[in-house]
This record gives sequence, structure tokens and C-alpha cells, in this order.
Amino acid sequence: MQVFKEAIINLLKKEVNGSIELETPPDSKLGDYAFPCFGLAKQLKKSPIEIAKDLASKLKPNKYIKEIKSTGPYVNFFVNESILAELILNNISSGKDDYGKAKKKKERVMIEFSQPNTHKGFHIGHLRNASLGDSLVRIMRFNGYDVVAANYIGDIGAHIAKCIWYYLKFYKNKEPKTNKGEWLGSIYTEASKIVAENEEYKKEIQKIQRKLEDGNKELTELWEKTKEWSMQDFYKIYKELGINFDVFFFESQVEKPGKKIVLDMLKKGIAEKSDGAVIINLEKYGLKVFLLLKSDGTSLYSTKDFALAKKKFDDYKIDKSIYVIGSEQRFHLKQLFKTLEIIGFKQAKKCYHLSYELVMLKEGKMSSRLGNIVLYFELSKKIFEKASKEVEKRHKQWPEKDKEKATKQIAVAAMKFSMLNQDNNKTIVFDINKALDFEGETGPYIQYAHARICSILRKFGKRIDKGFIDKADLSLLKEKEETELIKLLGKFPDVVENAASSYKPSLISRYLLDLSQGFNEFYHIHQILKEREELKNTRILLIDSIRQVLKNGLNLLGIEAPERM
Ligand code: ARG
Repeated sequence: MQVFKEAIINLLKKEVNGSIELETPPDSKLGDYAFPCFGLAKQLKKSPIEIAKDLASKLKPNKYIKEIKSTGPYVNFFVNESILAELILNNISSGKDDYGKAKKKKERVMIEFSQPNTHKGFHIGHLRNASLGDSLVRIMRFNGYDVVAANYIGDIGAHIAKCIWYYLKFYKNKEPKTNKGEWLGSIYTEASKIVAENEEYKKEIQKIQRKLEDGNKELTELWEKTKEWSMQDFYKIYKELGINFDVFFFESQVEKPGKKIVLDMLKKGIAEKSDGAVIINLEKYGLKVFLLLKSDGTSLYSTKDFALAKKKFDDYKIDKSIYVIGSEQRFHLKQLFKTLEIIGFKQAKKCYHLSYELVMLKEGKMSSRLGNIVLYFELSKKIFEKASKEVEKRHKQWPEKDKEKATKQIAVAAMKFSMLNQDNNKTIVFDINKALDFEGETGPYIQYAHARICSILRKFGKRIDKGFIDKADLSLLKEKEETELIKLLGKFPDVVENAASSYKPSLISRYLLDLSQGFNEFYHIHQILKEREELKNTRILLIDSIRQVLKNGLNLLGIEAPERM
């Protein structure tokens, strides 16, 4: 915390010339802050160990710092815990839902995420992207950025043509009553199976794509109708997950402007023709050849990305453009950003690919072409069933409405948390039973710690207002578990900042697990409501602060914090 750092720096300034950088010792037993003495050895002509010893004996503790010790080449500082407690708990109780929030920044950032393709199933890999993107939007906003949450729907291209071709061949005029998008996705999978080795079929599909791009009336109508089936599924999923977008881009919207950019590149000699197709040679950058337009003149994935990149900056006046996209597209994005640079797009360097790894099942990799994918709706159905059983077991007597609400809160937490509690660069092996385990490292486990605190506070009954807080004697918080919890609470703003600068919600999920574990241990060892009045009040204040920070952290992951579970 800043006040302690300043107090230490002020102490050191009296003895040390030059800049002073403090570190955090690897183990809190060594101290709360450390000053490494290596940098002074030359100037003082002494070993860092001697310097540390000297400094530790010269420096005198004060109101903020209770002890100063040297360990090897470091001077270690121990903060005064009752002041620490006062500062942190006051910050939390005055900040409330804003505790940990950073000041407004000028930067406007667009985060593009979720980007599912219509006419295909939304599977649990898409769930990872959606959870990650939404959490980043929340984290960046909390850190003061002006964030535009953007979706980019893949509503045209070869996969759509394939689905429509198959539909016309085998299902013409058919339409299921419900789950229409999911049904389309299954058709797409069927189509992929028969197309794979068949050149004739591939030609038929290409013809359909051509016709669609040329605006054939009948096909366009069918495309619009079926696209809407998928969109309705997507909206339903976002609603269930509590995920919102400020803008929806569509591939269909950027296709024509994309082609224009590519043809312009051709005219200027930046791009060239090769076997009828349009390409740009990026070999001198180690990025091979980037295909920009197919030989039959139809657009590619890349074609559209040029126009999209521009549109984002032109229409939304953003300073930075983040693309949340799976690691398998890393090369495409490198080629894209490099080409943008070559055509003189000023903001090319402001485009950033935030990559993440796959979601796998214990059985192996998923692919919607092969049909061995777990669809979102399948997963969520199972999770909701299990969560509902849990709620039924604990709260048979609750009104139906409350049970439904709790079920949803727990189910969504289980799904999102298992997608976020892993480093972006690591594969997730999804296990439905683990995701819901109230005792494991899960979303429901953290929710449960939160609800447990709420229940203690309800039993306590008194309001925790300013008067109550002012009266509490924080010097009573002397137990090891208490001090550790307070320090952990004080770290929250730093964790939030690190999560934003490294785009890692997993830092927050890990933190929340530690805080929940810390609380559970504390509550296992120490009493609260049965303690004498003063100590009870102080501990109530401590757990109320834990409640607040759990809530704030969960909110950054897009997870609700129920008061009863
Ligand atoms: N819809 C694409 C897919 O499913 C992802 C789009 C990513 N965004 C982009 N600007 N290329 O693969």
C-alpha cells in the first residue's frame, strides 16, 4: 500500500542517495517490503550484506513501520498491523462496490469477443471466449478504461454456403419448432461429413457462395431466415450468461468494403495476382503468402478483416483494438496486422491479438466439422439440472422463484469460473463434475463463502454503518489468520490492476479462491458471534470487508454473489 511504501522511502531517503525501489519479499515471514542493497555496493564500497546490516541498525521504526531487520543483502520492513487494518478496512467500507476501482483513464479500448459463426453450433470453446471477453470488459472498465464491447458474427462465407447447400439438398422447406440454430449446426456437421472427399459437392457449394455474394434473391431470403435462427440462439445464450455487447459487427457488413481495400492494394501494386487469386507476399517478414481474394473472386476471411479493422477505429474513435481469438488463428492475425501496416494503416500497431487456448474434453479435441463437440446448450442443461438438485437438497422450502434464481446463479458461476480459472495460454480440460463442486476450486465454492458470511451477518443483525465502523477497535485483530486476511484484502486493487494490464482474469479467480480459503480457515479456527462484544464487532467488520471484496471480484468475472445458498 502506498502509505507504507512512502513511509519506508522517507526513512531510507535519510540514509541512501539515489533512487529507491522496494520489493515484496517472496515469503511474508521475511517482511512486508524489502529494500535490496546490491545497487549501493559500488558507491559505498561495501558488500550488500554489510550495507543491509548497517541500514537496519540505523533506521528507526515509526508509526507505520513497527520493525526493521536485515536478511542477507535485503533490509526488510514490517508494517504496523493496526494501522494497516484501519486503512484497508476503512477503504473497503467507504469504497463498497467501488473498492479496487481505478481512476478514469482517457483511453478508449474496443474488445472484440465471442464472434460465433451462424449456421454452426455454439460450443464450449465459444463459452471460453465469451467468458474471457466479458470478464476483460468488466476488468478494463473497473480500471478506468472506456470500453466498447464488440461482437463480430460470422454470417457469410464458405461454411454458410455449405450449410445452405445441404439444407436445400435434403431438408428443403423444413423448419424445426424450437432450437433452430442448434438444428442448423447439426446440419452443418452432417454436410461436412459427406463433403470432405467429394470434389463435385465442393463445386456445388462454391456456386452457392458465388450466388449469395452476387445477391441472388431466393438464396438471400433463405440465408436471412436461417441466419436469424442462429442469432436467436446466440441472444438466448448471452442472456443466460448475462453478457452484453455495445455493438454487433457482421461479416456480411464488411465484405464489400473489404474487397474494395484488396482491389485497391492490387491497383497500387502492394498485392498481386497468383493463379487468378489475389495475394500479398509476406515472405520477407517470415509470414509466408497471405491470400486475400479467391480466384473466383469470392471473399475470404482475410478480405473482411481489413474493412473491420478500419471500421473499428473510424466509427468508434478507439485508441486500441483487442481481438479475443483462439491461438489457432495467431498466424492469420500476424499476417493481417503486418499487411495493415504495409498499406499504411496508422493504427496497425494498436491492434492486439489476445490469444487463448482450446477447451478439450477428457476424450480429446473438439471440432464442429467432425461433430464431436459439446454444444453450449447440452452443457448448460446438464449444469442447470445438477445445480437445481443441489438447491433442492438444501432449500426444499424456498419458493420456486427463489430456487430458480439460485440455480441459475450457481450454474452460470460453475461454467464461467471453470473457463476463467486457467491461464489464457493453457488448455482447459473440461470436467462437468469438477465445475460444480462446492468444495473444489470452483465458482460455487467462492459464492458459498460469500453466502456464508452473509448468513453470519444476518444472525448478527445490526447494521454495519459508519458509527459502527468508527467504534470498532481494530487493534484487536491480532491473530495470524486475521492479519493475513487483512493483507490479502489490501492487495485486491493491485490484483485488479495486474489482471487488466496482463489481460488475465485468472489472476482474479486465483485471488478469490485464496480469499475464500483464508476466510474458511479463519472461521474454522476462530469464533465470531460467540466472542465478547468488542472482539465480535471487530471481527464482524473484518468479515463484512471480505464479503465486499468477494462480491467485487466475482462481479469482475461476470459471476453473481448470492446472499443465500
Ligand atoms: N468467426 C470467426 C471464427 O469463428 C472468428 C472471428 C474473429 N475475429 C476476427 N476479426 N477475425 O473463426
